Amino acid sequence: MLVYDARTNKMHSDAVDTAHVLVIGSGGAGVRAAIEAAGYGETMLVSKTLTGKGGCTTMAEGGYNAVLRETDACEIHYEDTLKGGAYLNDPDLVQILVHEAPQRIRDLLEWGAVFDVTDSCEVAQRPFGGQRFPRTCYAGDRTGHEMISTLVDRLHGTGVRIENEVTVISLLQEGQRVNGAIGLDRQGAIRVMLADATILATGGGTRIYDISTNSSSGTGDGYAIGYNASAELIDMEQIQFHPTGAVYPYDARGRLVTEAVRGEGGLLKNVEGERFMKRYDPERMELSTRDVVARAIATEILEGKGTKNGGVYLDVTHLPRSQIERRLPVMLEQFLKFGIDIRDVPMEVAPTAHHIMGGLRITTRGETTLPCLYACGEVSGGVHGANRLGGNALAETQVFGKRAGEAAGRVKEQKKAADQKMIEDAEQRICTFLQGEVPPSSIARSLQTTMWEGAGIFRNGPDLQKTLGIIRHLQTLHPKAASPANFAECCILQNMLTTASLVVRSALLRKESRGAHLRRDISQNWDPEHSPYGHTYLSLSREGIETRAVT
Ligand code: FUM
Repeated sequence: MLVYDARTNKMHSDAVDTAHVLVIGSGGAGVRAAIEAAGYGETMLVSKTLTGKGGCTTMAEGGYNAVLRETDACEIHYEDTLKGGAYLNDPDLVQILVHEAPQRIRDLLEWGAVFDVTDSCEVAQRPFGGQRFPRTCYAGDRTGHEMISTLVDRLHGTGVRIENEVTVISLLQEGQRVNGAIGLDRQGAIRVMLADATILATGGGTRIYDISTNSSSGTGDGYAIGYNASAELIDMEQIQFHPTGAVYPYDARGRLVTEAVRGEGGLLKNVEGERFMKRYDPERMELSTRDVVARAIATEILEGKGTKNGGVYLDVTHLPRSQIERRLPVMLEQFLKFGIDIRDVPMEVAPTAHHIMGGLRITTRGETTLPCLYACGEVSGGVHGANRLGGNALAETQVFGKRAGEAAGRVKEQKKAADQKMIEDAEQRICTFLQGEVPPSSIARSLQTTMWEGAGIFRNGPDLQKTLGIIRHLQTLHPKAASPANFAECCILQNMLTTASLVVRSALLRKESRGAHLRRDISQNWDPEHSPYGHTYLSLSREGIETRAVT
């Protein structure tokens, strides 16, 4: 371990951690990957929070999509996912998702997860937006929590070494090959971790926006770390704004109000009491896809048909009280804490940044464009295209977590040696924070408002250019660490800035409206299925947008 000595401003090295597989991230994808990798050799999992406690999986409410009934079919799940994703998804990844999601939920059940069941003891499924069959499995409205608790219990029996509160700040490389990572512990001491294979499972990053469902750990670290190591990322412009986030009290702004509320029959109404979705998607109404519902709500609010708190109504007062109590207990309790009994009065909701659909380019085995670096879960791109169906993310964590763990586990052993220059660079980087000038939290606040205003639901070229300019300016400020314990916060801020710049640069590259990405300054005469464009891509060495033959 390398330890920083504040008196001499130097690092002291006394040990290096080694493992066959290093998993970075402790949400559903990371833990699933570690469980799998453990079968192949010594596996180490590092988490910047506490394993199973931070990240998005534990906060995921609504459910897990899987075809479990003969009346449904993987081919329908596949088509729904592609259509929902505005045909930007990678079809091979989607095929794997839909075919393996059923077996991966069976793993969870076998390991003790308790999902809701029907009267005949089959896993219960509820309808979610953009799907032609009720295929979202759930544990009330705390599905992610049930999953991660089960996974962490399982993890504890595998011999995986868990290192909590270690923030990875960069990858170690020998040429292009990734051979581990450099992290910081709670005190700000550098940790060098060498591995034959490394898996990025760092989750998402919508904390780059002012209003977000993500916990404070959703800062986009994996996108930035991967990019800085020269991995390629795709479709970073595709940000999912969940239609229904809480609008008040102020401190709860953006908190997720699960799609399960609409799945259970909740109705969206504007301040005039109109079920406005009939003007946006008369067929699917409240269960249209998230991009459509989020835009509809934002439009109603912009046109003055929102509530005085700046939202629209989400009403379940017509549902049996017992249904709300049984199926939506977290929602009921969450709003009761704010003094609102959703059994009697409607909730007020507005869109909130929820999920980054782009990410590191991966193969079906989770390989990135860098040798020995794998990615799974939200940090990877391609599964969801331009709009994710609710319930597909939890399934993705399990399907691709297992695949990445297996592929990384199969990597042949290599001679392990760290590039000293990379370690010295990391030391240099963190030591400058002691001479910094601006608190990282204040730079983060500026970034979040800038992103919300300039790269939100409705976009245009000039605003995106302006936003990129502001991000570049923020990148020139020197974040200040009061002590080594704040080094990680400064690195995380830099990750947020890098991730935001990737989002905006990609948004400028995509000169069309597609799924969640709406360019108001561009008129187009094609529907998504017939778009001439494929993925946007960005790496240290190239950027652009793929074009494709359209039939
Ligand atoms: O609305 C929700 O419960 C979120 C689900 C998801 O993002 O998959």
